[in-house]
Amino acid sequence: MLGVAGGIAAYKSAVLLRLLREHGHSVRVVPTGAALQFVGKATWEALSGEPVTTSVFEQVDEVAHVRIGHEADLVVVAPATADVLASARAGLAGDLLTATLLTTAAPVLMAPAMHTEMWHHAATRENVRVLRDRGVHVLDPAEGRLTGSDSGPGRLPEPEEIFAAVQQLLASPGEPAPGLLQGKRVLVSAGGTREPLDPVRFLGNRSSGRQGTAMAAAALAAGARVTLVAANVERDVLCEAGLGAPGSAAGLEVVGVESALELRETMLQLAAEADIVVMAAAVADYRPASLAETKLKKQGDDGLTLQLVQNPDILRDLVAQRAAGTAPAGQRIVGFAAETGDEHGTVLEYGSAKLLRKGADFLVVNEVGAGRGFGTAENSVTLVAARDGSAEVIGERRGSKADVSQWVLSRVVTSGPSR
Ligand SMILES: Cc1cc2nc3c(=O)[nH]c(=O)nc-3n(C[C@H](O)[C@H](O)[C@H](O)COP(=O)(O)O)c2cc1C
Repeated sequence: MLGVAGGIAAYKSAVLLRLLREHGHSVRVVPTGAALQFVGKATWEALSGEPVTTSVFEQVDEVAHVRIGHEADLVVVAPATADVLASARAGLAGDLLTATLLTTAAPVLMAPAMHTEMWHHAATRENVRVLRDRGVHVLDPAEGRLTGSDSGPGRLPEPEEIFAAVQQLLASPGEPAPGLLQGKRVLVSAGGTREPLDPVRFLGNRSSGRQGTAMAAAALAAGARVTLVAANVERDVLCEAGLGAPGSAAGLEVVGVESALELRETMLQLAAEADIVVMAAAVADYRPASLAETKLKKQGDDGLTLQLVQNPDILRDLVAQRAAGTAPAGQRIVGFAAETGDEHGTVLEYGSAKLLRKGADFLVVNEVGAGRGFGTAENSVTLVAARDGSAEVIGERRGSKADVSQWVLSRVVTSGPSR
C-alpha cells in the first residue's frame, strides 16, 4: 500500500508508484484528502490500476480500512506530512490512510517531507522518535531546495532512494535485497596498517581484514561497484570472502596499501567518487617518528626507545572532505570502532562519543577481546547513527562477519540519508 499525504512532494510519489509497478508489485494507493489537492485521483488510479479512496465511508462493503491493512505486505507513506506523523503517533484514524496504519501488521516505511521548521519542531521530533521506537521505519528527509526559495532538511528523498528502502524491507530480514546498491559506488577499507620502522620491521595490529572483506562482498552481492582498499590482507582472507583472484568478481577493484598514510591518501582520493564509504580497516594511531634507512641494530641491555607520532584521523578527514563539497551528494560515511569498556564507560558510550566526535553518519561498534572481534569469524556489533547531534542506536547484530555486513549495509540504506 502506498499512502500519500498532502505535501508538495506528492508528485514524486507518482514516480515511486511507477517504479513499484515496473518491478511487479501490486500497489493500492491511499491518498489523504489533502494529497488530492496536489495530485488528483485520476493519476493514482491510472498508474496503480486500482480504485482509489480516501475515506473509510467509500466502498463500505469492502471494509477497506481493515482489508487493505491486512492484505498489504508493506505500507509506505510518502510523503508523510507532519500531520500524518502526529496522527500515526497518536493512533488517530480520521481517514482511510491513518485507519489502515492502525489495522496493518505489515512493516511500515514513512518518508517525511516538510518545511525545515516543521521537521525540527519538538512535536515532530518526538512523534518520529516514538514511531521509530515502535518499529516504524522513518527515513530522514533529504536536505536541499524546499517549496519556495528556501532550503534545508525536509525534502522528500528521491523516489529511487525510497524504492531502495522498500526493496530492502521486502527482502529477507538482515539481507540486502539483490540490486539494493545497483548503480552505487561503495568504497571499503579492510585490514590493518603497518607502520614501518626500518626496511624489514613494522608496528602492526591483529586485524585480519575479514570484516572489511565481508563488507565488500556484501556490497558486491547487493549490486554495487566496489573498491576495496586492502591494508595487508592475506590472499586467503580475500578468497574466503569470494574476492580472491584478480578479476574474479565483476565490479570489484582491489587496491593494496601498507601504512596509515598510504591508506589515507588512497581513501581520500577514491572517496571523491563513492556513495558509501566504509572504514573497516584498523589504522594505527601512531607511527614511528622516523624511518631508519637501514636495519636497526641491537642496542644491548639498555634497550631501545622508539619515538612515535600520531597518525591522521582518516575517518574525520573523510568527513571534512565531504563537508568541503568534494563528494557525491548524499554520501554516507560508515566507521567501525573496536572498543573495550572500563570503569569510566561502556563500549556503547565510548562508541557513541567517537561517532559524534568524528562526524561520520554511522558507527559499527564492536566489543573486542575474549574471543570476539579481531581475527575471528564471528562478530557482535551495535550500529549507531548520528541524528541531530546525538547518537541513536539502530540495532544490534551477532553473527558471522558476512551476516553482520549484510545487516549493516541494509540498515545504512533503510535508515535514510542522515544528513
Ligand atoms: C502548498 C502547500 C504545501 C504543503 N506542503 C507540506 C509538506 O510538504 N509537508 C507537510 O507536512 N505539510 C505540508 N502542507 C500542509 C498540509 O497540506 C496540511 O497540514 C494538511 O492538513 C495535511 O493533511 P494530511 O496529513 O491529511 O495529508 C502544505 C500545504 C500547502 C498548501
